[in-house]
Amino acid sequence: MLWVKAFHIIFVTSWFAGLFYLPRIYVNLAMAAHDTERERLLLMAHKLYRFMTPLAVLALAFGLWLWLGYGITGGWMHIKLLLVVFLVAYHFYCGRLLTLFKQKLNTRSHVWYRWFNEIPVLLLVAVVILVTVKPL
Ligand code: HEM
Repeated sequence: MLWVKAFHIIFVTSWFAGLFYLPRIYVNLAMAAHDTERERLLLMAHKLYRFMTPLAVLALAFGLWLWLGYGITGGWMHIKLLLVVFLVAYHFYCGRLLTLFKQKLNTRSHVWYRWFNEIPVLLLVAVVILVTVKPL
């Protein structure tokens, strides 16, 4: 079980590296003045999104293995799963925003993306407290 938990935490951490960095690229994309800079940032965002998606799948798979395979559960797990649904929705919304940037259809400002970038931070804090402290 500890090997499964270790890989769960490894893939969760790797996924979050992408969830933290991709919206930061969007902040810069929303401010980009020149096509060369825009193309470079778009390529970075495209590669990062393609890289972080399998990491998300592995993080969730090892989590489900812990939950269903070892029957580790409780009230904290139900709230955790709700927050995980928000995280997965956030991940796919980042993909949607990438498509809009590629089509030059982005209408959001860099200030909006700076606030958008804070959402995974809040979700991470809540999930880690839930799964470690298990308050209910
Ligand atoms: C389908 C989604 C997920 C499921 C079913 C799941 C399930 C679990 C389970 C059953 C444990 C073991 C808890 C224990 O041994 O006390 C665990 C540990 C952990 N999970 Fe998840 N998890 C999921 C997603 C996530 C996500 C998205 C994060 C990060 C935001 C996360 C962070 C952690 C951490 C940090 C631990 C280690 C806690 C400890 O060792 O005390 N998990 N997870």
